[in-house]
Amino acid sequence: MKRTIYITRKLPEEIVDKLSRQFHVKMWSEENVPVPRDVLLKEIEEVDGLICLLTEKLDEEVLSKAKQLKVISNIAVGYNNIDIGFATEKGIVVTNTPGVLTETTADLTFALLMAAARRVVEGSDFLRSGEWGAWSLMQMTGQDIFGATLGIIGLGRIGEALVKRAKGFDMNVLYYNRTRKQEKEEKLSIHYREMKDLLEEADFVCLLLPYSPEVHHLIGKEELSHMKRNAILINTARGGIVDEEALFDSLKNGVIWGAGLDVFEQEPIPMDHPLLSLPNVVTLPHIGSASLKTRMRMAHLAADNMMSVLAGEEALTPVIKP
Ligand code: NAP
Ligand code: GLV
Repeated sequence: MKRTIYITRKLPEEIVDKLSRQFHVKMWSEENVPVPRDVLLKEIEEVDGLICLLTEKLDEEVLSKAKQLKVISNIAVGYNNIDIGFATEKGIVVTNTPGVLTETTADLTFALLMAAARRVVEGSDFLRSGEWGAWSLMQMTGQDIFGATLGIIGLGRIGEALVKRAKGFDMNVLYYNRTRKQEKEEKLSIHYREMKDLLEEADFVCLLLPYSPEVHHLIGKEELSHMKRNAILINTARGGIVDEEALFDSLKNGVIWGAGLDVFEQEPIPMDHPLLSLPNVVTLPHIGSASLKTRMRMAHLAADNMMSVLAGEEALTPVIKP
């Protein structure tokens, strides 16, 4: 008897075929519309495995409906969409997709940093608006990247991959992490700072730590006020880490110079959100890991985790309850 799994979003055929060879696969058939909560609440009841995206909030209400669920395989490295404590209590294994998206997300983080510093999106819009009268000396001037100081908050896999890119631009790199990583300091030529000191010294502050209620609005009015007036904030971690109202005020009033955001407190960000009215913010639709190859690697790893656990083996990349 094949076990039954539910996939909460239409996945590429290659992945569905692979899973269908082993399981009875049920799947929400839309590619761009998340599974409605009432459908999820029903589907989760009778399945052995669930493959989901970060758009699915798997809280106590949803998980308590599951009668025989053994494994949740999240197609993302971040797992703040899942109540890990409750899943663990119920004996459900949770897996994520670390490692396979590290370099791609570091690329995008550096791309956002460059785009915000050199006003790439604003410059393109300016040209297309027909306002480009003539080349002029101070037109569209931005911030230098080479030789500047980068501050990374959250020096994990992606943070470390970002260091490599920054070193190629002769940047001085500072980091703050929950636990100091002395062995990396010499290896990567980076320097540890307490968070306030990092905020005061860095020209670019990149957030690369996981979201949890403890870091909700970690960057708010006070933290932004410590940053340099020429500083740029880059967030490719999770929207909830930044107080967006405070960020808007700081950007509007010149407390900081610019921002590059791939993630938002509410996704998709509402079109009337004040941040979207500012020219000094580059905004992207949560595409940190979105290269074709990487998204396929993530989907394969999620499928492989599902197959391992339902075969009675260890998960390849289990989430350990923090
Ligand atoms: P990781 O290897 O687990 O690194 C996270 C780092 O953050 C760890 O070094 C951890 O420190 C540190 N940290 C945790 N809590 C902290 C706190 N309160 N203050 C300071 N540092 C803290 O994770 P990763 O693979 O680099 O991914 C990082 C995050 O990026 C993910 O959780 C996800 O939210 C986000 N992400 C976004 C995208 C996107 O599409 N935009 C793509 C991939 C990932 P310890 O060593 O003490 O644990
Ligand atoms: C994307 O945001 C991820 O956590 O993989």
